[in-house]
Amino acid sequence: MNKIAIIPQPKKVQELGGVFALNSDATIAWNGNEAAKKEAEFLAEYLRPATGFALPVVEGEGTITFSLANEPEENDMGFRPEGHKIVAKDGKVLITGESSSALGRAIQTLRQLFPAEIYASTKQAVAWEFSEVEIEDKPELQWRGMHLDVSRHFSPKDEVLRFIELIAQHKYSIFHWHLTDDQGWRIEIKKYPKLTEVGAWRKETLIGHDHRDKPHRFDGKPHGGFYTQEEVKEIVAYAARRHIVVIPEINTPGHAQAMIAAYPEFGMASLTTPEVRTRWHISHHVLNMEDATVEACKDIWREVFTLFPSKYCHIGGDECPTNMWDDSKRVYELMIQRGIKGDPRNLQCWYTGELNKLFKEHGRRMIGWAEITHGDFNDTTVIPAWWWGGTDYIKLIDRGFNIIQCANQFLYFDYAQCAPIDEEPLAINLDPTQSPYSTEHVYSFVPYPSYLTEEQKSHILGCQGQLWREYIPNMAHLEYMAFPRATALAEVLWSEKSRRNYRCFLKRLATHRARFDVQGVNACDRP
Ligand code: ACM
Repeated sequence: MNKIAIIPQPKKVQELGGVFALNSDATIAWNGNEAAKKEAEFLAEYLRPATGFALPVVEGEGTITFSLANEPEENDMGFRPEGHKIVAKDGKVLITGESSSALGRAIQTLRQLFPAEIYASTKQAVAWEFSEVEIEDKPELQWRGMHLDVSRHFSPKDEVLRFIELIAQHKYSIFHWHLTDDQGWRIEIKKYPKLTEVGAWRKETLIGHDHRDKPHRFDGKPHGGFYTQEEVKEIVAYAARRHIVVIPEINTPGHAQAMIAAYPEFGMASLTTPEVRTRWHISHHVLNMEDATVEACKDIWREVFTLFPSKYCHIGGDECPTNMWDDSKRVYELMIQRGIKGDPRNLQCWYTGELNKLFKEHGRRMIGWAEITHGDFNDTTVIPAWWWGGTDYIKLIDRGFNIIQCANQFLYFDYAQCAPIDEEPLAINLDPTQSPYSTEHVYSFVPYPSYLTEEQKSHILGCQGQLWREYIPNMAHLEYMAFPRATALAEVLWSEKSRRNYRCFLKRLATHRARFDVQGVNACDRP
């Protein structure tokens, strides 16, 4: 019999002594609120391929029963409560939860109780048994995010679905989809077809590291791709079924070279018209901030809103160099016309305010990387605080912003994870004297440091791992960088500090690796 090894660690796990066995005559039942029916159906879908059992879904009581008294409304952040209880006793399993999301999280726990072969996509000759147990659980943080950059390297729809399924298994609640950047525009926008006709394709890609391997060399191979709006809807629905909210990021006014390559009239056209960028690092091409350009950005958002029901959407806003603006007489004219004082950095501030108004009109809340707080932009925006391992983010909290902890010194999974880092696949960090971002390092991250006051803590909405893809060209490499660090982060986010112990985590991770193996996940297996 498998030892119970749940990741993230539940609040309470009590073994009851008996053995639960799922057999071919088993049924999955639901009772109470209709929302439980969907969860029962979903569990049956998950269990059928590996077991080969019919697992009919019925109302009332079954071998495994989902019970939901009522389905509460989503809270302000778009989440439902996630507390739940699983009781496997006397040959039956009863799952009760505070909401459908709670039942959804319980499903992922239940899968982990079975032998790892339950994750197989074809029928396995295995006894589907586990120790009877009572599990009570509830997450510490509701905003448990994973980010994925599909601009620097594109992942077709099926890979995105696989990634979402893997993070769902770790009880993540947010998928932050970085859809546009200098190196590729990845979402179909009907009003601006050239964004994907032109902007989704670059003629070649840098070989080696942008900072080290000079002079730059390129592979001569076109790279690109994009998601049709139909594919986007399918991905959003697939995530929603797993109680994951998809947050789209459309990054402007910097990181917009692909957009400018598609529509040079949105860029600083008096200078050169760029191609879709073929190397990494920060492009100096920025939007020109003309009224028509700002209006186009708003149009793009109006279309994006129709595809994503998320309360929050992400405007990017990071790393917007102002050199082109600094040198432009026209930019100064625009600033005077709009009453914008100071240096051109404040033009970005003004633009952020324009987008914020649009977001409010559409009942959305804006997220923007920490740079949007330069200047006097101050609103109820959420800031992914990305460049701090230290305490500077507290200044933003004290200005009234809400924060998502994205600390690049812990949660950037594009950094090499094993020492010596020069024996690892090429990664963003190159300095061999620097410590790698190991799984243990990620596990040590503290989203709510105890030196914060309760009021300050209330501004931390959640926490997120980042997967920037400059040096992550394909899915196998992506999985290598993501796991098991995202597994460790999942526990940091779900299980409160008193339940976290790295040695205990490693023991459970050994079992978890069997789940990865069954699914062919290329997790890193070095310490
Ligand atoms: C970022 O890493 N530029 C958000």
